[in-house]
Amino acid sequence: MKHEELTLQINGAKRTGVFPRGTRLLDAIRRLGFTGTKEGCGEGECGACTVLVDGQAVNSCLIPTCQAAGTEVTTIVGLGGSERLHKLPRAFLECGGAQCGICTPGMILAAAALPPRPSLEQIRVGLAGNLCRCTGYMKIYDAVEQALGGPAPAATSAPKRVKRVAKGKATTKAKTKRRTPTSTPTPTRTPTKGKR
Ligand code: FES
Ligand code: FES
Repeated sequence: MKHEELTLQINGAKRTGVFPRGTRLLDAIRRLGFTGTKEGCGEGECGACTVLVDGQAVNSCLIPTCQAAGTEVTTIVGLGGSERLHKLPRAFLECGGAQCGICTPGMILAAAALPPRPSLEQIRVGLAGNLCRCTGYMKIYDAVEQALGGPAPAATSAPKRVKRVAKGKATTKAKTKRRTPTSTPTPTRTPTKGKR
């Protein structure tokens, strides 16, 4: 298998690694030590692997690492550590928005991509690609609302997710699933049915 040397900008610092060609961004991030980024389904379904790429929430399990070269990648660590807790994880703690924590880094990063003072609908749509099987969703929505402020008077539409189609292994799912960081807009997603 061919390998490639790639340099990524992660949480403000350059990191270089040699990866088998086609390595998912999720795997590269974790191999570089950022294990706060979690893997759930590995298929673009659960959002556990969410990171920010140039400020947009993406499923890192769907993106070849080479597509992230030249971008700014932010993982949960990039929001700040426990000494200077970011307002989102602080609100998750205060509102009881996490139990097992597997979904939580992805939830928080998806929330970090929302506009200031999002409406409940914007929060629901913005987090629709992030599944939680422990906490239920209302406490998570409460936490996001607490952290980002109440809805602005003119808030009407939810932010759009964009999709970067992964080449090779991940392309089948990438055609139907959310967000990857290109300029191609995807239809606004509706929340998954079930425990919300
Ligand atoms: S691990 Fe589930 S969407 Fe990436
Ligand atoms: S807290 Fe366990 S999956 Fe969300």
